[in-house]
Amino acid sequence: MIDFAKPELPSDDKRWKAIQKEMRKHGYRHDALIQILHSVQGAFGYLGKDALAFVAASLRLPMSKVYAVATFYHYFVLEPAGEHSCVICTGTACYIKGVPELLDMLKREYGVGLGETTADKKLSLVSARCVGACGLAPVAVIDGETYGKLTAESMHETLEKILNSDIAETADASRDEEEVEA
Ligand code: FES
Repeated sequence: MIDFAKPELPSDDKRWKAIQKEMRKHGYRHDALIQILHSVQGAFGYLGKDALAFVAASLRLPMSKVYAVATFYHYFVLEPAGEHSCVICTGTACYIKGVPELLDMLKREYGVGLGETTADKKLSLVSARCVGACGLAPVAVIDGETYGKLTAESMHETLEKILNSDIAETADASRDEEEVEA
């Protein structure tokens, strides 16, 4: 195996280490690309730009090639379509600790299921296999932040805060605009 300098991990999120380990296991081979993208999506719920860039740099492939593969297969999800993203961990530990209740609440309150985005494009829901925080099960990663030991109620409350802070920001912005115009 050729040893070359590895690109820096995009953040200290330990899922990146797991992805790096997976790439090492495959000897950073180009033909492992699809498998690696599956692992990234399994860990993060979707393939963000940072993930595609990290995989491209690690496998020493042009970004265009990685992007072409990621967009060719319908299974792969690039950035979720909604303004906010909610990644539900559907790994075993999370599942048995209450993921079905969380999913019921999301369907009931927001009308979304896994892989879907609310009609107002505010919230996208995706799933990940295990986000590496099993001790906190059940876990969701909302806009990049990990929330653990969730119940349907606490998750609903968290989402309401996040979604309603948008409304407050919009109201503040239009008030500011009115003040400037006055
Ligand atoms: S199974 Fe959910 S964090 Fe590991």
